Amino acid sequence: MGWIAWERFTCTIDCDLYPNDCVNEKLFRQMADRLAEDGYKKVGYQYINIDDCWSEKERSESMQLVPDKSRFPQGMSSLAEYIHSKGLKFGIYGDCGTKTCAGYPAQLKSEQDLQENYFDNDANLFAEWGVDSLKFDGCNLEAGKAESICPRMASAIEKARRPMVVICEWPFYMLRRQPKLSPNYTLAQQACNAWRYFDDVEDSWPSILSIVDFTISMQQNIAPYHGPGHWFDPDQLVIGNFALSVDEARVQMALWCIWSAPLYMGNDLRDISTEMANILKNVNLINVDQDALGVFGLMVKEDNNGNFQAFVKPVEPIKNGCPSFVIAYLNRKTLGNPSDVTFNTRDLLSRSPIALAAQRYASVYSNSNPGGLFLADGCKKFLQYGMTKDSRLIIKSVTQERRQEVEEKSIMYEATDLFGDGHVEPVALNGNLTLRVNPSGVRIVKLTLLDN
Ligand code: GLA
Repeated sequence: MGWIAWERFTCTIDCDLYPNDCVNEKLFRQMADRLAEDGYKKVGYQYINIDDCWSEKERSESMQLVPDKSRFPQGMSSLAEYIHSKGLKFGIYGDCGTKTCAGYPAQLKSEQDLQENYFDNDANLFAEWGVDSLKFDGCNLEAGKAESICPRMASAIEKARRPMVVICEWPFYMLRRQPKLSPNYTLAQQACNAWRYFDDVEDSWPSILSIVDFTISMQQNIAPYHGPGHWFDPDQLVIGNFALSVDEARVQMALWCIWSAPLYMGNDLRDISTEMANILKNVNLINVDQDALGVFGLMVKEDNNGNFQAFVKPVEPIKNGCPSFVIAYLNRKTLGNPSDVTFNTRDLLSRSPIALAAQRYASVYSNSNPGGLFLADGCKKFLQYGMTKDSRLIIKSVTQERRQEVEEKSIMYEATDLFGDGHVEPVALNGNLTLRVNPSGVRIVKLTLLDN
């Protein structure tokens, strides 16, 4: 979690014309102040990341990257020190190709000779500067060559002996620029802590919806590879900029958290309304995002010609062998009044990625028998999900007898509205969950098993 310059400040380098909005050291120092002093750090945001356009246009005679002399006169070590003094971490930006996307020096020397690169050189320099994270872009490199070159940057960083969170972009270029190529996500997991898979977010509702739609279209591919230490990155939160309404901003926050996405804000923290800041600092939502199981929540049911979509994510706490669940209802209608959206609880929960949750629980807590876990008393009676030793999902049919038993016992969940939009009555597993949702809006609730 953190803040990154790109979506809001892009490649603004004219500091005479835009003294407060240009990419210079003052900007990053001020954002670090805001992160530390305005309550963002307290709820988990900790990285301040530079994006493109930070360096001189040419390397030095000794082939080193040089921070732009007029915009970063004190250099990167000094900026890193300042950011660290606030208890925050410092991220920088590079590119696996011959130039960054905006045409600045990057880490590859030539596309003809792929052995020729600045990976070790620059990793050492970044480590010397006190860098804690690298966004590693993929412009100016043939997407088909990325997988044979870019992962080597992770080894260079390892050799430089300063731990850095690495955010990669080549899966995005493979998926979007040469869609016939399918990225090897196991390789991405080995070399990157997160990776982009879709177009750059922009400050608009259509941009948010395009990310939502693409993500849903590949959710079955994402979920198995997404988890602690290696995340799919749907790009920055644009909450607090110019375009999104409060409802739309809540949608972005809710879905990014349902996905356990990296939460990097791309906004101006010096100039943000309290309402938007509160969405970004909502601890209930952040807890969903940061849930230890790190399961990628799925869109499991649609209604009203696709206008109503229900998302489910299994989360902690685990009670009697059953996870809790976070459910989000998205209302995509742009006409009319708020709608009552209704889905059957069992229908939603039985489609949730519970096997992944079991697997994750087993690895997070070193439980040797994940299948047993979710077959514990209480859970098996209605979910009938389990896993074999080799992590295959088994779904057993619910016998008539069991079904009756469940119905009689009427398993109940306590429901908490995570945006605090009002009291939600406890929900029966055999019942419906109805929530009134604004147009272009979302409701998000957490269901925790009631004890009786
Ligand atoms: C690409 C990336 C963006 C940003 C720009 C910088 O478009 O996807 O996130 O880093 O490059 O030029």
